[in-house]
Amino acid sequence: MTFSRAVKIAPSILSADFANFGAECRALEIQGADWIHVDVMDGHFVPNITFGPATCAAIRPHIKGVMDVHLMIAPADAYLEAFANAGADVISVHYEAGPHIHRTLQTIRKLGKKVGLAINPGTPAAVLENALDMIDLVNVMTVNPGFGGQKFIMSQLEKVATLRKMIGDRPIHIEIDGGVTVETAPLVVAAGADVLVAGSAVFAGGSVQNPDAYGANIALLRASCGL
Ligand code: DX5
Ligand code: ZN
Repeated sequence: MTFSRAVKIAPSILSADFANFGAECRALEIQGADWIHVDVMDGHFVPNITFGPATCAAIRPHIKGVMDVHLMIAPADAYLEAFANAGADVISVHYEAGPHIHRTLQTIRKLGKKVGLAINPGTPAAVLENALDMIDLVNVMTVNPGFGGQKFIMSQLEKVATLRKMIGDRPIHIEIDGGVTVETAPLVVAAGADVLVAGSAVFAGGSVQNPDAYGANIALLRASCGL
């Protein structure tokens, strides 16, 4: 993974056909996805359950590029090795998920993975100040985590701009997660984001049988940002 600030579209398989993850991931990459975003939910940190490391490992061979695993689980520490062994390229944990975020980030680094730190809409940008030298990505949640298809929270735009200033020249990705559409994508890119997670906006009107719709949706997202 070489660092670049070019805009990347990362479809979230939360909106995929759960019985066809392999085919969905292959289709998404053929249709122009840059990264594949994998949402892990535990029914405790967030009010929804998806799947765990075994499913991530099963998906891995179907992804040629970056597998971006977003852990919405608490506690996270005990499971980091399992997600690393499952083949994640990026592992993001939530700032809010435990009392020792510094240790959690160190553990991901030691496992040889790119380190992501996710922050909920109610968490200020300032919490990153003491983590900037430890992370490769910040995931700015622009909805309350747990479900796809929610409305983008506009107040997060200012946070993205603040983070962009804090990050400066450091090779840290700013990822936006939740409510990314052709309306909101250009706003977050203008504020400094470079990874756009999109579930409903990519999967709308498509299916494993009709993957061309994914490609059309990805192209629309890129075009909305002037790409
Ligand atoms: C929300 C997840 C997101 C979600 C985005 O908890 O982290 O990745 O799938 O879905 P949309 O793009 O539909 O808001
Ligand atoms: Zn996510």
